[in-house]
Amino acid sequence: MFRYSTVITNTSPENSFPEEIEKSISTPNILQQKEKDERFYGFSDTVSEPDRFRESAEPEFVKSPFKLRRKGSKTSRRAKNMEASDPPTPNVSDTSLVPERAAPTVGEMLERPVALSARLREHLQNLSITGESDHPFAISFEDVAAAAFRIRKGIVKTPCEKTSIPELDDMELHFKKEFAHVTGSFKERGARNTLLLLTEEQKEKGVIAASAGNHALALAYHGQALNIPVTVVMPENCTIVKEMKCRGYGAKVLNKGHNLAEAKDFAVKLAREDGLMYVNGYDHPHILAGQGTIGLEILEQVDDVDAIIVPVGGGGLIAGIAVAIKSLYPRCQIIGVESEMCPSFKAALDAGRPVKIDAHHALTLADGLCVPKVGKNAFEIAKNYVDKTVIVSENYIGIAVLRLMEYERAIVEGAGASGLAALLAGLLPELKGKRVVIPLCGGNIDPTVLGRCIERGLSSEGRLIRFIVNVQDRPGGIAELAQLISSIGVR
Ligand SMILES: Cc1ncc(COP(=O)(O)O)c(C=O)c1O
Repeated sequence: MFRYSTVITNTSPENSFPEEIEKSISTPNILQQKEKDERFYGFSDTVSEPDRFRESAEPEFVKSPFKLRRKGSKTSRRAKNMEASDPPTPNVSDTSLVPERAAPTVGEMLERPVALSARLREHLQNLSITGESDHPFAISFEDVAAAAFRIRKGIVKTPCEKTSIPELDDMELHFKKEFAHVTGSFKERGARNTLLLLTEEQKEKGVIAASAGNHALALAYHGQALNIPVTVVMPENCTIVKEMKCRGYGAKVLNKGHNLAEAKDFAVKLAREDGLMYVNGYDHPHILAGQGTIGLEILEQVDDVDAIIVPVGGGGLIAGIAVAIKSLYPRCQIIGVESEMCPSFKAALDAGRPVKIDAHHALTLADGLCVPKVGKNAFEIAKNYVDKTVIVSENYIGIAVLRLMEYERAIVEGAGASGLAALLAGLLPELKGKRVVIPLCGGNIDPTVLGRCIERGLSSEGRLIRFIVNVQDRPGGIAELAQLISSIGVR
């Protein structure tokens, strides 16, 4: 007799914004902004981001940071609007109050650290080196709209397409394909927004971040594109492919620490010593604003969305999307999904503040979601705007990765597939008959983890079975076994 072990498989079974955004960004008061500039900077050269947008959308207006004037006319349309809507403010149409300047180029305008909401600008003064502050801060819709304009030229506008997954034919499902970015994840949005908002001095010195993957790749790629030095500290056990890609994008890569927390400690120390800006990948306000631009694109691409299901790691993605969606289309539900291996957002909701939990990094297929403590700023927003959170099992994450390969011909990492996993697991029955969008947030999956996803997905559906059987050690013994297996329809 000998022992026969095998595995059998059964395979049967450019740049237009929605009208609402235009409306909402058309009201800031330049004079108020100028006053605030003068308080913070001692001078003002402010043109608010909405104005930039309007300028680019309305080329018949002469560009000027201080006023807009129709060619050949004395008073700008904006000035007239302001006169009508803000009677108590000084006489804006009196252009003699405002110095004339040569129109800046779009490039110059994007370079300058302006166009933040006044509250955010104030908040930034109080941030610690890690991008954190004692008082959590919620970005505004204006910050997201400004970020959308700012990053639009360097970021892929990812498709959002209707799809059909067999088990989910009782709802209208759309996938927002965020894995289609150059570096394979949505993290580029926040990274580019942050880099474009650095001061000239910061741009010269560069930035530093601790990340095992997508945030590092995004910063490295956009740092190279914008000529800003980027240092990424990656844990010693990070995947070699991601490390090599970061180096390929010109980033300085340091391998430090056994895990992300240790890598972060090292990065923060280096930031202090070398005067680099530390970019927190899920909590810096500029990151949140950048991630929120996904929400704006979704509303532009899909009408009357009932719900968006968003994976949650440190919380930056869901916070940004929630600000955008709840400002423009509040009836759309924002639903968060966490892996059972790291439900830190649920823990924060229960405690009323971010708390550190035990995360099981080695056991998860969704490493992007494995953040043991959500960000303070992200939580401040998400706690008010997120309608529901669910915790999904690793088995369903594996099944979701598999389904996306089979039905979408898409390679999506576990974190990016967890929104679909929640639906497949039946955690959101109330979405039957609804129009639902799932951001497929990233496609950077290690081949070995992909193998685990496929194996786990197949086996949890009974499509892959590992068994051990005793076979008689005589001629024809194994053939008999093979025949028996095939006779029950296994392929
Ligand atoms: C693919 C993917 N999806 C989702 C997330 C979660 O984003 P956040 O940490 O902002 O919540 C991450 C974070 O790295 C990610 O890489």
